[in-house]
Order: sequence, then structure tokens, then C-alpha cells
Amino acid sequence: MPSPLKIGLIGSRGQLGQELVRRFSEPDLSRKVSLLCLDRPAFDITSPSSLGEIPGAGFDIILNTSAYNAVDRGETEVRECFELNAFAPLLLARACREAGTALLHVSTDYVMSGGIHEEEQIPYPEEAPTRPLSVYGLSKATGERLVTGAWERSWIVRTCGLYGGSGSGQKGGNFVTTMVRLAREGKPLRVVSDQRVGPTAARDLARGIARLVTAPLPFGLWHLTNAGNVSWYEFARRIFELSGLAPDLSPVPLALYRPVAPRSPFSVLSNEKAHRTGIVLPSWEIALADYLERSGLLAGS
Ligand SMILES: NC(=O)c1ccc[n+]([C@@H]2O[C@H](COP(=O)([O-])OP(=O)(O)OC[C@H]3O[C@@H](n4cnc5c(N)ncnc54)[C@H](OP(=O)(O)O)[C@@H]3O)[C@@H](O)[C@H]2O)c1
Repeated sequence: MPSPLKIGLIGSRGQLGQELVRRFSEPDLSRKVSLLCLDRPAFDITSPSSLGEIPGAGFDIILNTSAYNAVDRGETEVRECFELNAFAPLLLARACREAGTALLHVSTDYVMSGGIHEEEQIPYPEEAPTRPLSVYGLSKATGERLVTGAWERSWIVRTCGLYGGSGSGQKGGNFVTTMVRLAREGKPLRVVSDQRVGPTAARDLARGIARLVTAPLPFGLWHLTNAGNVSWYEFARRIFELSGLAPDLSPVPLALYRPVAPRSPFSVLSNEKAHRTGIVLPSWEIALADYLERSGLLAGS
């Protein structure tokens, strides 16, 4: 039997990280993969001494799910945002190159906006030019370029509207948990109705990533989101329908909501490239119902 693939996972306690741990411990992969979690405080991606350990550690693959993802705060915490999303990934890519270790780095729909895709609401393919609007988006786009420029054996996986577990520690939850919490608190909710996204369950993304790196599929850019797209308002409505909550919910246009960090009204990534290789994530509706059920939030569960 060939020796198991040695995979290092940075950020194993995050939304995506937890689901990757779960996926790699399932019977079909657990014998093929030896997974080592690289977490703070022992491993900090911004620490030169942590990165210095990579070349001698014998990893076949490193998965980097760590990020600065407090999108609105990033407009003022520019240095912190770039450090975690761009400079540390560059140094990680160099360490991987020195070690001959393949690297998977996770990015975001926030690198995209504008052009024909936004005007005509056509999902962005991998080759569409990036046009970030926010500091967060710019830091992630810079990270993508620095990683791919430094190390050709890299996959960059862009995803959108990620939700999993109890949410992101940095964000204090995710869209789904936040909607449920606010509804239970009886707060009136105004949710943006003219921004379309492809919300993605971390569980499905983890399955796609596991497939990408174990197949393995070619290095380069990959878009992986749940299928279909929806406005945040419609997504919220579906959350409440499925969880049996009936808050005072009203739609608000992006122009009136005016988030601190600017957002594109159309942020949907095309999954065609992944579909051609047989990686097909379920629809956002199926993924949402599955997440609510697993979290004990489905009405009647
Ligand atoms: N959330 C979204 O809506 C969204 C959308 C598109 C793309 N993405 C991207 O998807 C990826 C995963 O996001 P997520 O929501 O799973 O993130 P998350 O839940 O916030 O988790 C991030 C993880 O990174 C770790 N981390 C942070 N700083 C670190 C450092 N200096 N050294 C080592 N580890 C560090 C955190 O560790 P601790 O456990 O110590 O805090 C945490 O485990 C990110 O690249 C993000 O940009 C997210």
C-alpha cells in the first residue's frame, strides 16, 4: 500500500478547517491521508519560525484556510488584513517551494466585480480579470498573485458566502447563525435584496477541496461554491422558512444599506471548470437545509 499523503492544515478550528478535518477522517480518506493540524499558538502563519519548520516537515500538501476575513474592519485595519491575506501566504508559498510541498490557498468572490459579468449577471469564470472593491478583496487578490507567482504547485480555491459549524470566530458567526440569532432576539431585520451571491456550506467546500488535492487536479485557479445563486434577502427568507422563524424581515437595496466595505451587487462565481472534472457541489438550497438540520435549527428537529 502506498504511504499516506501527509497533509498540513492551517486553521483547523475555522469554519472550513473543521469540515476538512471531518472529511479527511472519513473512512475512504482516513487511510490514504495523514492529517496534521497547524494551529496557533504552536503554528502562526505570520511567524517566520513557524514557516521555517515547513521545509523539514515532509508535507506532501499544505492547506491554508487561515485568513483575515473581517471584511468591514479591514477598511481600517489595512496592515493586519494584508499581513494575513497577502504577505504571510507569500512567505508560506516560498517555504512550500523550498520543501517541494504543494499548497492549496483559499480565496474569495470579493476579488471580483464589474464588467460584463456584473452588468449581465453572468457568473465570473476563473479567467475573468479581478477587480476588488474593498481592502479585504484587494488583500486576497494580492495574496492569490503572490502565491501563484512564488510557487507553481499551488491551487487557489475561490469561494463565496461561507458558512459552517458555529461560524467564524473572527466574524462572531456566519450569515445563517446571525440571522437565526437576530430573529430569535425579535429584532426587525433589513437584508440586502439586490446583491447576488453563491452561499456555500463549508462541508461541501471541504469535500470539493479534498477531491481536488487527492485526485489530484491541475494546479491553478478553481471556483468552488454551492450551485445556483440568490440575493441575501432571498437567502434569509429561506433560512426563516426552513427554521420556522417569522421575524419582521424587509428588503433593502445595497445603496441604502451602505456597508463600510464596498461590495459588488453581483458576486457569483462560475463552477463550470470544476463541473467539467466531476466536482459538483449541491445547490445552495440543499446545502442550507442540510446545515440547518445538522445544527438542530430546522423547524421540528
Ligand atoms: N467566511 C466567508 O464568508 C468567506 C467567503 C469567501 C472566502 N472565504 C475564505 O475562506 C477561508 C476560510 O474561511 P473561514 O470562514 O473558514 O475562516 P474562519 O472560520 O475565520 O477561520 C480562520 C482560521 O484561521 C486561523 N488563523 C487566523 N490567524 C492565524 C494565524 N496568524 N496563524 C494561523 N492560523 C490563523 C484561525 O485560528 P484560530 O482558531 O486560532 O482563531 C481560524 O482557525 C479564508 O481564506 C476566507 O478568506 C471566506
